[in-house]
Amino acid sequence: MVKGDPAPRNRSLRLDDADRARLSEGLRHFSQKTDLASCLDRVIEGDCLEQLKYLPPQSVDLLVVDPPYNLSKNYGARRFRQQSPAAYEAFLQDWLRLCVALLKPNASIYVCSEWRSSYSVQKILAQYFIIQNRITWEREKGRAAKQNWKNACEDIWFCSLSPDYYFDLTAVKLVRKVIAPYKNAAGLPKDWHIGEDGNFRLTAPSNLWTDIAVPFWSMQENTDHPTQKPEKLIAKLILASSRPGAVVLDPFLGSGTSAVVAKKLGRHYIGIEQNPDYCLWAAKRLELADHDKAIQGYEDGFFFDRNTKFDTVKLRKMIGK
Ligand SMILES: C[S@@+](CC[C@H](N)C(=O)[O-])C[C@H]1O[C@@H](n2cnc3c(N)ncnc32)[C@H](O)[C@@H]1O
Repeated sequence: MVKGDPAPRNRSLRLDDADRARLSEGLRHFSQKTDLASCLDRVIEGDCLEQLKYLPPQSVDLLVVDPPYNLSKNYGARRFRQQSPAAYEAFLQDWLRLCVALLKPNASIYVCSEWRSSYSVQKILAQYFIIQNRITWEREKGRAAKQNWKNACEDIWFCSLSPDYYFDLTAVKLVRKVIAPYKNAAGLPKDWHIGEDGNFRLTAPSNLWTDIAVPFWSMQENTDHPTQKPEKLIAKLILASSRPGAVVLDPFLGSGTSAVVAKKLGRHYIGIEQNPDYCLWAAKRLELADHDKAIQGYEDGFFFDRNTKFDTVKLRKMIGK
């Protein structure tokens, strides 16, 4: 192995010159108003503050936003600098008000944040939407601090545009091993199932998510993006809050996770990203998704808890799904 070569088990995305030439053809950049057919299932390269103005109004069912957090971070050529809460709130307003015009009346909205900026995000979201919940994702990986608690979680704010919104709870139930196998008076399992691989329960997901790891280099979905979200996390948002065929918009697409997951789950996507390299990574992942619809941690319609594995065919039979 030559120094600088990736380790043999490193499955992170790599692009060669041929990939770059082919994939750049599919990227879009608009300089005037466009119709849905022209932007649907496209990666748009550009500044979302400009590109959002050209997208068709009332065309989006689900808005998934993972914006730069209020932290200094290098996104390739462009660096996001930590700013005052007031300045960060103005930044949130700038893109959010453009998104609002693009939403269908029954749309749902998810916006990611972390503890420092979560207050600002909640405040601005409340000006436009009905806040339905705040999900906390325990992402485990985090930088240790000498005089503070290590930050190992993120918030995902869940909102709707009106009280009438779509939510499919059964699509996101979690298969969990049963630790306390209580039986009823007849000696039968209370609300769990006896499987060959162990006892399990299908539980309704709470707003505390502890079953999702950050992408790392031995995972196929991994890229060199500095703040890539796990496909499993985005899959939960999309399955719970959109029907097949729905339109998912992500104005800060990064390495393409939301678009890739939307495609794998039979939804449409529109993604905007300013960094040309990230756009190509997204395009490559979308190309790979033509043949590989797998999402790590989600199999055959089931989400599995960490270190839990069940035969999904038997599981289906057992619960009559
Ligand atoms: C937190 S990351 C999103 C990561 C993404 N969820 C993923 O899984 O890869 C935010 C992204 O927004 C991009 N970005 C920042 N400002 C932007 C702007 N004004 N327009 C479009 N993209 C922007 C950054 O380049 C970065 O890739």
